[in-house]
Amino acid sequence: MQHETPTITVCPDGPLLVRGVTELVDADGNRIEPRRRTFALCRCGATGIPPWCDGTHKLVTRARGGDG
Ligand code: FES
Repeated sequence: MQHETPTITVCPDGPLLVRGVTELVDADGNRIEPRRRTFALCRCGATGIPPWCDGTHKLVTRARGGDG
């Protein structure tokens, strides 16, 4: 089986899109099971389902006057 090269893409005013990462841990070292091969980590702090992005960043961006 060929392994995908891990990549992290920074989305402007949005999440970190993570591809090819199979191990994810929280600040205490507890393992978090990635739900998919590609997942979005919240970067704005407003998500209701941390550490995952739930799209709330769009509301935050709009509130700041951005495109969201
Ligand atoms: S980055 Fe999407 S909810 Fe925070």
